[in-house]
Amino acid sequence: MEQREALRLALVERAKEARKNSYCPYSGFAVGAALLCADGSVYAGCNIENAGFTATCCAERTAFFRAVNDGKRQFKAIAIVGGRKGQEPRELCAPCGVCRQVMAEFCGPEFEIVMTDGKELQVKKLEDLLPLAFGPGNLQ
Ligand code: THU
Repeated sequence: MEQREALRLALVERAKEARKNSYCPYSGFAVGAALLCADGSVYAGCNIENAGFTATCCAERTAFFRAVNDGKRQFKAIAIVGGRKGQEPRELCAPCGVCRQVMAEFCGPEFEIVMTDGKELQVKKLEDLLPLAFGPGNLQ
């Protein structure tokens, strides 16, 4: 297997592991994410819901905010796994618009988003999922 593919699969496994900690009593939809930093470190996150629904944090943002809080600023890829709690994921879980915007704050167009339907990997670049992004460059 190609080394890059093996790395993506390992990242998906970390996302599955993180998904086990999902706090999703309202939606019953459990998500895990694993963020690969440029230095090789990996930060995982799960979705954390709230009775005041808007206070909910997606798995992707949990992972990003943990990493940024630790001083990380450069990222290569994120794996995302989501589906009904207690079941194996059967469909792709693509990042929501808010999470795409958070990615655009820290990542370039080549940043990889790895998703899976439980069978195959689907890999997209940030520029595919958020074309014409409004980012830090717009405020310079
Ligand atoms: N969610 C994520 O954590 N990431 C996504 O990519 C899509 C949605 C969470 C938010 C909420 O807790 C639940 O999934 C249903 O929207």
